[in-house]
Amino acid sequence: MTKVIVVNGPNLGRLGVRQPDVYGRQDLDQLRSLCTRWGSELGLEVEVRQTDDEAEMVRWMHQAADEKTPVVMNPAAFTHYSYALADAAHMVGDAGLPLMEVHISNPSARDEFRKRSVISPVATGTITGLGFFGYRLALEAIAHLVDGE
Ligand code: DQA
Repeated sequence: MTKVIVVNGPNLGRLGVRQPDVYGRQDLDQLRSLCTRWGSELGLEVEVRQTDDEAEMVRWMHQAADEKTPVVMNPAAFTHYSYALADAAHMVGDAGLPLMEVHISNPSARDEFRKRSVISPVATGTITGLGFFGYRLALEAIAHLVDGE
């Protein structure tokens, strides 16, 4: 079974209480169960992680590249400014692995600073604005890409 990590950046541990009008009322544990279930339906072993720490997220990318693990990433606010994370995500692509960028909201329809993603140029694809369902689509994309190899 292909292992996939679903990594979530800062403040996503506050899902359910943080701006529910934007991010919904479901929390990280619910996201974890959904992703695990969707993964098993797709033949993927999914591990959902969250961190508020940029260095930890960077290390997870190094590990994914070394262990050949495809990635679903919601970089949260790191999306808009973290060149360190963009460089680390680039290494995942260099290792021949898919990296799907997901946003629960549609950042382009929000504040000016959210309109730029430094991650999109190094992602295999980007899904925005579909709530938690975006993670499902990202996992499907990974199942499809891995299957095609
Ligand atoms: C987000 C969008 C980002 O702009 C924001 O900083 C987040 C969450 C999303 O999932 O919609 O924390 O990545």
